Amino acid sequence: MFDLSKRTALVTGAGQGMGTGVAEVFGTQGAHVLVNDIDSDRAEAVVERLRTEGHRAEAMPFDVTDLDAVRTALGGRTIDILVNNAGNAGAERMAPRAFVDTTPDEWVAPLAVNLDGVMNCTHAVLPGMIEQGWGRVIGVVSGAGTQGVHIGVAAYSAGKGGAAALLRSVALEVARKGVTVNSIALGLMSNAGGSDVTSGLAKTIPAGRLGTPQDLGALCAYLASDEASWMTAQTIPLAGGAITS
Ligand SMILES: NC(=O)c1ccc[n+]([C@@H]2O[C@H](COP(=O)([O-])OP(=O)(O)OC[C@H]3O[C@@H](n4cnc5c(N)ncnc54)[C@H](O)[C@@H]3O)[C@@H](O)[C@H]2O)c1
Repeated sequence: MFDLSKRTALVTGAGQGMGTGVAEVFGTQGAHVLVNDIDSDRAEAVVERLRTEGHRAEAMPFDVTDLDAVRTALGGRTIDILVNNAGNAGAERMAPRAFVDTTPDEWVAPLAVNLDGVMNCTHAVLPGMIEQGWGRVIGVVSGAGTQGVHIGVAAYSAGKGGAAALLRSVALEVARKGVTVNSIALGLMSNAGGSDVTSGLAKTIPAGRLGTPQDLGALCAYLASDEASWMTAQTIPLAGGAITS
């Protein structure tokens, strides 16, 4: 089940955190993994680790917010599986502030990486998927984008909610082309908030623990598989019970 050995998979933002977990699980399932990150050193380090573990991997650094850079990096190559994982998360990058206290210049970056980045990468890979009659697009979104949250990340929520909405509509457009498109609405993951607060955060989750990169990788492996051909246009919560709809 979930054999990916015939597939080339591009995972964006895979230089650390959740994306690295997805890349590792894909490697284990036999995929040729293209490890993207805006930070090329991170991407190279993950590739080296995957290869050491016996997996097939290649670094593909680019900035997902730059459509020309995405197209240049792909160079017309056909991608079977795209995981739109690059995004903003973590206290140090999110700088939580009530929306009313923010200024428009603060909205640009969260929308660029969380929404434009998904549009760019998805737009770049879809023609090849449609032409070959097989493809899988996965968005890594957030409960912050599917439900309201009061932690001062409204622009991030907008980016994630926008990406989920985009991908549901794209899914319907390509549903008869052999291409499935789904999103995963993540809850709190093991890298959220820093190690000093993670045990406190875990208590807020019905399952009693934070999510791991492997939890995300396992769901991505299913969604990327032949077996998931009837699963499309969904936004699937993955949150230890913390998101119920
Ligand atoms: N960690 C959580 O608790 C959590 C919760 C909900 C959703 N998410 C989402 O899951 C995804 C992964 O989260 P994470 O915690 O592993 O993030 P992270 O910040 O630890 O890692 C993200 C990676 O993406 C890269 N990146 C950032 N901008 C990029 C760009 N423009 N182009 C290419 N690469 C870029 C970064 O260099 C980094 O290596 C994100 O989309 C995030 O919003 C995370």
